[in-house]
Amino acid sequence: MDDETSDGKRGTSSIVQSSDGKRGTSSIVQSSDANRSIVNRSIVFTEKNFAPRTSHLARIRYLCPMITHEKITIAVDGFASCGKSTLAKDLAKSLQYTFIDSGAMYRAVTLYFLRQEVNIYDTEEVSKALEKISISFRHLEEGELAVTFLNDENVEREIRSKDVSENVSLVAAISKVRRFLVAQQQAMGKEKGIVMDGRDIGTVVFPDAELKLFITAQIDVRTQRRFDELQRKGIEMTRPQIEANLQERDRIDSTRKDSPLKKAEDAIEIDNSALNRAEQLELALSYVKRVTVERLNG
Ligand code: CDP
Repeated sequence: MDDETSDGKRGTSSIVQSSDGKRGTSSIVQSSDANRSIVNRSIVFTEKNFAPRTSHLARIRYLCPMITHEKITIAVDGFASCGKSTLAKDLAKSLQYTFIDSGAMYRAVTLYFLRQEVNIYDTEEVSKALEKISISFRHLEEGELAVTFLNDENVEREIRSKDVSENVSLVAAISKVRRFLVAQQQAMGKEKGIVMDGRDIGTVVFPDAELKLFITAQIDVRTQRRFDELQRKGIEMTRPQIEANLQERDRIDSTRKDSPLKKAEDAIEIDNSALNRAEQLELALSYVKRVTVERLNG
């Protein structure tokens, strides 16, 4: 639920359930005057054995203006491994939008360059290599998330490797590569109803996006999240290696000349260090709802 308090704070509150079956209310309160979030989160458990039956109807009512109204474009930007893709996927699923992981496209180009030993400092070589690259997202099974294909090969796992992670920011700093991928990203978002995550989505790819979110989280939280993710995928990287990679990529991404990572002026910043997946989704949906209602009201 989206509420406004008498002292001008906005917030969301929702029914949550603990692992031992207790029911409670989770509230997230945010100052309405600043583009920064959170900071008061409280969960009060009151009752045992609460069956999670709230959601269906309540959620449909909650989402109704959003899914019935004309679709919007949602840009999700931020630093490495701060949960952008998770949030973007969850938003796309809730709103029945298309999700595009723009980072996967930079990773796929990097994988191709590594395999073909392209000299990234030779612009001719880079241009020729780009002509041979085709990237697509395909659903292997209905209802499953799309995976990344590079020239008809499923590269979803390989693009997350240490080698690709260590080179992707250098490749992403090349203007020719950016022009090549940004054009494709803009074409994918032409019809709206898209959630795209990356570094320059709100600033360059979709500067007119109706909703722009800029995600941040503390470095130790980001490291642990990426460590867990790589473990699940069976990719070996130690915590210190991961932390060093995240910091180095952030440095290159934020300081490159072409489309550096920065918060768009009209983006809403969310620090999700203390939020779980459901809470960050709930908060983001409250912003979607706000934008949608504002548009409905003209
Ligand atoms: O998931 P993670 O935060 O590790 O990064 P990613 O989204 O997979 O992006 C990998 C890299 O691609 C970033 O570190 C950037 O160098 C580059 N990238 C970019 O320059 N612009 C984008 N829109 C998306 C990614």
